[in-house]
Amino acid sequence: MAIISDGEKFKPQKDRENISCRQTEYDYSFETNIRPRSFDEYIGQTKLKETLKISIEAAKKRNEPLDHMLFYGPPGLGKTTISSVIANEMGSKIKTTSAPALEKPRDLIGILMNLKNNDFLFIDEIHRLNKVAEEILYPAMEDFSIDRTIGSGEKTKILRIPIARFTLIGATTKAGSLSGPLRDRFGIIHKLEFYTNTELKQIIKRTAVILNAQITEDGSELVASRSRGTPRIANRLLKRIRDYAIVKSNGEITKEIAQKAFKLLNIDEFGLDIADRDLLKLLIEKHEGGPVGIETIAAALGEDTKTIEDVYEPYLLQAGFISRTPRGRKASAVAYKHLGYKLPSVQQNFLAD
Ligand SMILES: Nc1ncnc2c1ncn2[C@@H]1O[C@H](COP(=O)(O)OP(=O)(O)O)[C@@H](O)[C@H]1O
Ligand SMILES: [Mg+2]
Repeated sequence: MAIISDGEKFKPQKDRENISCRQTEYDYSFETNIRPRSFDEYIGQTKLKETLKISIEAAKKRNEPLDHMLFYGPPGLGKTTISSVIANEMGSKIKTTSAPALEKPRDLIGILMNLKNNDFLFIDEIHRLNKVAEEILYPAMEDFSIDRTIGSGEKTKILRIPIARFTLIGATTKAGSLSGPLRDRFGIIHKLEFYTNTELKQIIKRTAVILNAQITEDGSELVASRSRGTPRIANRLLKRIRDYAIVKSNGEITKEIAQKAFKLLNIDEFGLDIADRDLLKLLIEKHEGGPVGIETIAAALGEDTKTIEDVYEPYLLQAGFISRTPRGRKASAVAYKHLGYKLPSVQQNFLAD
């Protein structure tokens, strides 16, 4: 049986504090303030930026709109941000919406008809578009036109209405859930990667300047190392720690102050919070390391399977705490070690694969 060393046992969701800084919805005023507006301010994702710069230059020279683009990757990595940066760099306007807001065909048609040449249309969570909306998009993306059916029965006619030459940018956390025909209509498809600690440190320093907060070199290094590779988390942590520094000290974020704040926030040296550790403990304590099916994990943590897959898992997978197998999720030896559990001897071989 596994041994628990930190005395912090698995807790049901209601006992967990909401300290995760991982909410996926916008904190508008804060995020708008600190959101980069140009390629120069957009840190990291070097390969993506280089490809985009070339595409933008070519499009400008040909005086044509950019190819339709799809960005995918976990929440908070900069999909929305890069989209508005692109529009800015093209000197164009961007209309932002999300698939769940386009439930009725007329919502999407209205937006498409109002676009001007070279405008951008950004659709967030594009994997959630319904079939009808998708079918409106196909001719819009391919021929810059909308097909409207007029009349009924034998007299049915399809009317082609031209619209502006625009660029669609789709963003999704789940590229795999996009229908094939829709995916095929994007000229540029790009996955956003987790950020290195050096990149996160740059982001933290930039945000600190905007927030008018003082942060030392080793303070920003510590915050970067606990940001789970994600700019949104880095910024939110910085904001919380800034508050802590103002209340508990002279406002300067030093390594020592940050360490104390992280202790209070229950965020460990890998940036895992109570929810992450609960997930790992569930696998280890209740299921001998797994494999455990996603539904079981979701039910035990009081979350839906989508949130587990899109929000919790990407970083735990990337950092090597869990692995995905056809029969479910398994805790890795790294997870056992990190949480202070003894690796069961039968498990050692099993986990080695
Ligand atoms: N490359 C980057 N450089 C600097 N800040 C970034 C970068 N990417 C994201 N951010 C910050 O992180 C926040 C979340 O980014 P966002 O584009 O909303 O993520 P996503 O749309 O992928 O969920 C933004 O408010 C922005 O300030
Ligand atoms: Mg977004």
